Amino acid sequence: MFSFLNKDQQTGEVAEAQLDEDNIPAHIAIIMDGNGRWAQQRHLPRVAGHKQGMNTVKTVAKAASQLGVKVLTLYAFSTENWKRPTAEVNYLMKLPVDFFGTFVPDLVKNNIRVRVMGYTEALPQATRTAVANAIADTKDCTGMVLNFALNYGGRAEIATAMQTLGQQVQAGTLKPADIDEDHITQQLMTASLGDLQDPDLLIRTSGEERLSNFMLWQVAYSEFVFMQVHWPDFDQTTLEQAIYQYQQRHRRFGGLTK
Ligand code: FPP
Repeated sequence: MFSFLNKDQQTGEVAEAQLDEDNIPAHIAIIMDGNGRWAQQRHLPRVAGHKQGMNTVKTVAKAASQLGVKVLTLYAFSTENWKRPTAEVNYLMKLPVDFFGTFVPDLVKNNIRVRVMGYTEALPQATRTAVANAIADTKDCTGMVLNFALNYGGRAEIATAMQTLGQQVQAGTLKPADIDEDHITQQLMTASLGDLQDPDLLIRTSGEERLSNFMLWQVAYSEFVFMQVHWPDFDQTTLEQAIYQYQQRHRRFGGLTK
């Protein structure tokens, strides 16, 4: 059992609670929202929120790993985020360079392996190099997988998977009638995560309650936890609060109560 300070979602009351260490979600996915609002509230430029958000990634990656999470997927940049002002996009592209430039030794110390999913070929060269180096430097780590979604979009991912299956049909190696869920799953950017590819818990910070094109296929049976906290203020305690909410749910996967 892990003790932590739980904040009641209805009353806001804070009290000591305990996490069941045998029911830690194996895969947690997070939509890290609210960096801009966090900065605005402090009369800072939006990018100051992203910088603080990057520091939160460091804290949360370590906390999740220590709690026994196996995969932590973070939505860092979507295929739609290119629509933001160029200066902000450039800043967001530089963040992985700063993050991996300073944090890889700590990741290795914590046995955390870096993985990236998304259309990385469209990222600037410096970002791609930083990502490739981080993946190479952590390749022997056997603990938690820290999976960054970078230039990722759920619909684009499914469209790409369909193109591949279409090519197999055209080549005569796959019959349309044989296409099942497993074929699609195998073509998604999460395929190499094996049994861990579907998030057990999806967290979105900052009060918004939508998916924003994130892991549309994989979250079919995920538990969703929406939190008011802006991402830069997220920390070990708020992570534990989200896991606590997850532990109060009864997952039935379309069946009846266990
Ligand atoms: C959403 O907040 C956040 C993003 C689009 C960027 C998320 C990126 C990070 C937290 C840093 C990632 C770090 C690494 C290492 C890659 P928003 O800007 O949409 O906030 P708002 O809704 O309040 O405007």
